[in-house]
Amino acid sequence: MLSRRQALAASAKLAAVAGLAGLRADVAHAARDDVRVPYGACVRRDPLDTDVDYRASFLSYCQTVTPEGGLYWYDIRPTRQQFKFDIADAILAFAEASRLPMRGHTLVWYGAMPDWTKGIRAGEAERELTTHIERVMSHYRGKIKTWHVVNEAIDESKGAVPGLRPNIWLQTLGDKYIDIAFRTARRVDPSAELILNEFGIEQLDGAGPPRRQAFLKLIKDLLSRGVPLNGIGLQGHLKGGHQIDRDGVYDFVSQIRALRLSVHVTELDVIDNELPAPVAVRDAVVAARAHDFLESIFAAARPSAIITWGITDRYTWVPTWYKRKDGLANRPLPFDENYRPKPLWSVIDYFCRKTG
Ligand code: XIL
Repeated sequence: MLSRRQALAASAKLAAVAGLAGLRADVAHAARDDVRVPYGACVRRDPLDTDVDYRASFLSYCQTVTPEGGLYWYDIRPTRQQFKFDIADAILAFAEASRLPMRGHTLVWYGAMPDWTKGIRAGEAERELTTHIERVMSHYRGKIKTWHVVNEAIDESKGAVPGLRPNIWLQTLGDKYIDIAFRTARRVDPSAELILNEFGIEQLDGAGPPRRQAFLKLIKDLLSRGVPLNGIGLQGHLKGGHQIDRDGVYDFVSQIRALRLSVHVTELDVIDNELPAPVAVRDAVVAARAHDFLESIFAAARPSAIITWGITDRYTWVPTWYKRKDGLANRPLPFDENYRPKPLWSVIDYFCRKTG
């Protein structure tokens, strides 16, 4: 839990950043594309039809988008035979009409799997996995140029250095499922940027160091086997109650850079269920956590994109898992429920414009 002193310190630091980043959002668009780090957010299908302000917020602020749903296995593969692209196609249509490149999230993840996949047997797993990647990536070839090929491969374990996270592919194919996924992705789309996406490496919560160690080992093992990996996604689902491990993040990103991989912030938000209730304090701490995270990354390497997991507090996955005990709504994202920019937006905008 955050002390009042920590909250005030966070607040003061933020005021300094907000001052630096105090330019209006529309001016951000005038910044040269080759200098600006692209900002993006994930998009939900349903509010695109019902909420004009939702659509407008992407047009005003984003340079890239990620579909929040639509590319999950349970969306595309309700049955083993089906490939159903309607949700992701609708989001892509919005992205293309808005001239926003869309990223692919995700081809392989333990989560969001339809029940029938539990029955995949060892003898058929490789064909099932490669067919999925072939069909999905070729449907979007030339349209989706960056793919989160494997999402959350590292297990959650307390204390010890974690291994790979259990999923149907690890169970049927062993460790090599990750190699298979990346090699297939490369074969289907030789020019796509292929990303390994992970969470939970950035905070002073005890879990960071072993997760970084496991993640780095996995990355190095993949590269040593010639697996075609282009970049690393740091999700950045930050827990508001924990400080950022600045040195840990800096060292980690420096090593990624030394391996000549790109770094992407792919799912930034700040989970505020343990933060104090007053909105001004909460928003300041949320912004300060993101500030420390982004500052540590930028000190080591300029990321290829900064993407938040949602754009407005109106639509966020956070209350599904992290509701506040006092019943107040979560405020994890850069714009509030009425699309007003929050201090978190000033921080993101500041880093996106940062040169050098
Ligand atoms: C979440 C979505 O936001 C939800 O709408 C969905 O029901 C489940 O997944 N890490 C990820 C994302 O990589 O895919 C997750 O998104 C959030 C955690």
